[in-house]
Amino acid sequence: MFGRVKPLDAILATAEKKSLHRSLGPVQLTLLGVGAIIGTGIFVLTAAAAQKAGPGMMWSFVIAGFVCAVAALCYSELASMVPVSGSAYTYTYAVVGEVLAWMVGWALILEYAVAASAVSVGWSGYFMGLLRSLTGFELPAALSAGPSWSMNGIDFSTGVINVPAIVVALAVTLLLMRGTKESATFNAVLVAIKVAALTMFVILTVPAIRGEHFAPFTPNGWFGPAGTTGLGVVGAAASIFFAYVGFDAVSTAAEETKNPQRNVPIGLIGSLAICTVFYLLVAAGAIGAVGAQPTSLGVQPGSPQFATECAGLAQQGDVPLVCSNEALAHVLRAINYTWAGDLIGLAANLALPSVILMMLYGQTRIFFVMARDGLLPEKLATVHPKWKTPHIVTLITGVFVAIAAALLPVGQLADISNSGTLFAFFMVSMAVLILRVRDPHRVRPFRTPLVWIVAPVAAIGCVLLYFNLPPEAMLVLPVWGMLGLVFYFAYGHRKSHVGLGRIEVHEDDADVPHSAVPPMPGASID
Ligand code: ALA
Repeated sequence: MFGRVKPLDAILATAEKKSLHRSLGPVQLTLLGVGAIIGTGIFVLTAAAAQKAGPGMMWSFVIAGFVCAVAALCYSELASMVPVSGSAYTYTYAVVGEVLAWMVGWALILEYAVAASAVSVGWSGYFMGLLRSLTGFELPAALSAGPSWSMNGIDFSTGVINVPAIVVALAVTLLLMRGTKESATFNAVLVAIKVAALTMFVILTVPAIRGEHFAPFTPNGWFGPAGTTGLGVVGAAASIFFAYVGFDAVSTAAEETKNPQRNVPIGLIGSLAICTVFYLLVAAGAIGAVGAQPTSLGVQPGSPQFATECAGLAQQGDVPLVCSNEALAHVLRAINYTWAGDLIGLAANLALPSVILMMLYGQTRIFFVMARDGLLPEKLATVHPKWKTPHIVTLITGVFVAIAAALLPVGQLADISNSGTLFAFFMVSMAVLILRVRDPHRVRPFRTPLVWIVAPVAAIGCVLLYFNLPPEAMLVLPVWGMLGLVFYFAYGHRKSHVGLGRIEVHEDDADVPHSAVPPMPGASID
């Protein structure tokens, strides 16, 4: 397993050559995290979480936030030791070798690309809702949503192809191909819009809270009714985990942080804590104002049966929270704040594309590094002479992201994305421990506190959440993994530069596009 390892010293020697400007303080780092984290998870998946857990989804937010916090502490140690692009893929390459690194990189495709699809579908739901509310215009369902999927088959009654999701995914792809230098101010404005929208939501819904809407609190129990998988409070935690993804941006910025030992954990835990508090307040407001009971017990959101139940309820003029594609706007409109519903729709429409951008960017960077290592065709790493972006890999990624967004519901995309992310976080937690044993004296700008407790807890948390995903999403990871192994042995194993004895570290090549994460709110990383 440890066969081909990319020497950590070679990576670090290159990283040290870069003259780093340590400019980020704790506040900027926290802002960076909040900007990267808040997105489709809270704006859209609150409805799916309610279908799975009912009001008990409040616990789901706490559980998912906790697993992310312990994983984040592990992530930070590696990010500060191996401060180069490629994220978990590069760390694994340096610690446990090429095959597992490939598998992590392959799983990160699920994390980033599929997350970009999920956020595109989330954007589409809010876009259609806003359009309907402001103009009365409604695109036929066949063109504004994908079909419903389950183990038993596909149901086209909910939709055929999600055109708005395709449009936003391709638009962001084009922007990335041309190269984007979003200013720190612009990003800070987007964070402010998201935070203001959520604050407005809390202020308007909290006075409307009615105690009886919280009962029964856990209609599907903690693990779902017997015979089901991926439901209940823990099942909802596995899905709502998506709402916290994105904090890796903070770890990746470790090398540009002043006093990372102190500030990285503040940034990570701070941004996760702020988001958790916001998420809990928003969840409480939504549940308390309109109720959050499932359509019926044991039914997965996004499944054909769920679609039928929602269609039936809509005919009776009763659309519950769990059936809405724009959960937060729906709640506000339901309590007669139509204007506020429209405003929150507008905020989502403005701010979600930056989350798509971040995910797509992360994906193309990982492909780029993998291609440079010889594990993917090197053509993919071609940098456009004028735009200075890896335009080929960006275009290919964008097309696949658009196809997935066109055909799958948001909740299922998020669950699939989570399966890949949980695998990557699991590997990172293990890698931290392995490296502590194998290389105990290496300088660690940030050390995970209580690592022998925190890392195992993170690993166990990831496994627990993974096994509480719906069966389809759980199945995707091993199937995807098998495909990855076939691809590796057919291509990467032969072409790998490390395998061919070429130790190269490309991270500081002159033509490498800047920064491992796009410029983020409150910080210009370039
Ligand atoms: N956490 C990000 C979101 O919820 C991925 O959209």
